[in-house]
Amino acid sequence: MTASPQILRTVSQVRQWRLQRLLNRETVGFVPTMGALHAGHCSLISASLAENDHTVVSIFVNPSQFAPHEDLDAYPRTLESDLDKINTNFQATSKNVSAIFVPKVSEMYPSGINLDVSKQKGAFVSVLGVSEQLEGGARPQFFRGVATVVSKLLNVVTPETVYFGQKDAQQCVVIKNLVKDMLINTNVKVLPTLREQNGLAMSSRNAYLSTEVKDKSSMIFKGLEHGESIYNKSVSEGSKEVKSSVVLSDILSFYKSDSTSNFIVEYLNASHPETLEDLETIVPGVGAIVSTAVRVPREGGGETRLIDNIILK
Ligand code: PAJ
Repeated sequence: MTASPQILRTVSQVRQWRLQRLLNRETVGFVPTMGALHAGHCSLISASLAENDHTVVSIFVNPSQFAPHEDLDAYPRTLESDLDKINTNFQATSKNVSAIFVPKVSEMYPSGINLDVSKQKGAFVSVLGVSEQLEGGARPQFFRGVATVVSKLLNVVTPETVYFGQKDAQQCVVIKNLVKDMLINTNVKVLPTLREQNGLAMSSRNAYLSTEVKDKSSMIFKGLEHGESIYNKSVSEGSKEVKSSVVLSDILSFYKSDSTSNFIVEYLNASHPETLEDLETIVPGVGAIVSTAVRVPREGGGETRLIDNIILK
C-alpha cells in the first residue's frame, strides 16, 4: 500500500512541497480538476502517475469561469468522496497521488472575485481568437476564467507536464495557446474522452441527470460517430475534401430521427483542430473537431448543457 496524498490548502504549502521535489530532481505531473471526480479524471491521474515521479491533483470549483446565472452554487462539491476515490483507485498501485491542492477561493483570488465581469478587479488572462466561439459563444466569460485559474495553478505547481481531457476540446486549445503565448514552462498533454458503456461522455454534470435522460443522452455521441463514419467513407472512396455541411446535416438528422427526445442542440460545428475556425470543407490530414452542446432536461427541473466532440482525422 502506498501513502495517502498530502492535502495542501495554501499556495505557500504547495510551493514548499514543490521546492523539495526540485531539490530531489523529481518530476511533477499535474491534473487540475473541479472535483466530483469520475473515471475520466482518474484516467488523467493514471497517465500522470505513470509518467512522473509525483502527481499533484487540484480540486477547486473556480468561480471566475461561471457567469452569475450559472450553476456555481449547485456545482457538486464532494471532497470526502473525491479523496476516497483517489485512495481506492491508487493506494493499492505502485504509486499514489502525492499531493492534493484544495485551496479556498480567497487563496486563489487574493483581490477577491465577483462573478459579474464588469465589477471584477485584478489580473485576468484572456486567450483571444480561440475563446469566443463554440462554448465561448454561449459562455462569454468561461475561457477567461479557465485561462486565469489555470495560469495561477501552473504558476504555483510548476509541473513538468499538465494533463487535460479531450472531452473539453476547446479548453485544450485555449490551454495550449495560453502555455505557448505566456511562455509557461510546461508540457500540455491531452488524453482521450472516457465514456459510459452507452457512449455518453463522463462528466461531473451527469450527476444532475435522471437515469432515463442519461440513457437518452447516449445519442449525442452516437450522432457524432455517425458523422465520423460518413466522413471516413467519403475519404476511403478517395475524396480530397469533404463538405462540413454533409457531415453536420447527417448528425442533425440522426438527432432528429429520435422524435421522442426534447433535447435542444445549441451548436454543432466543424472547426479547425488548432485555430478553431469554422471549416466549410474538411481536408483529410488536417481534419476537424466536430463539437456539440446539447441542452437536456435536468432532474427536478431546468436544463443541463452537455458537450461532446469527435476528432476527424
Ligand atoms: P473538470 O470539469 O473537473 O475537468 C478536469 C479535467 O478532466 C479536464 O481536463 C477535463 O477535460 C477532464 N475530463 C472531464 N471529463 C472527462 C472525460 N469523460 N474523459 C477524459 N477527461 C475528462 O475542466 C475543468 O474541470 C476546469 O475547467 C479546470 C481545467 C479544472 C479549470 O477550472
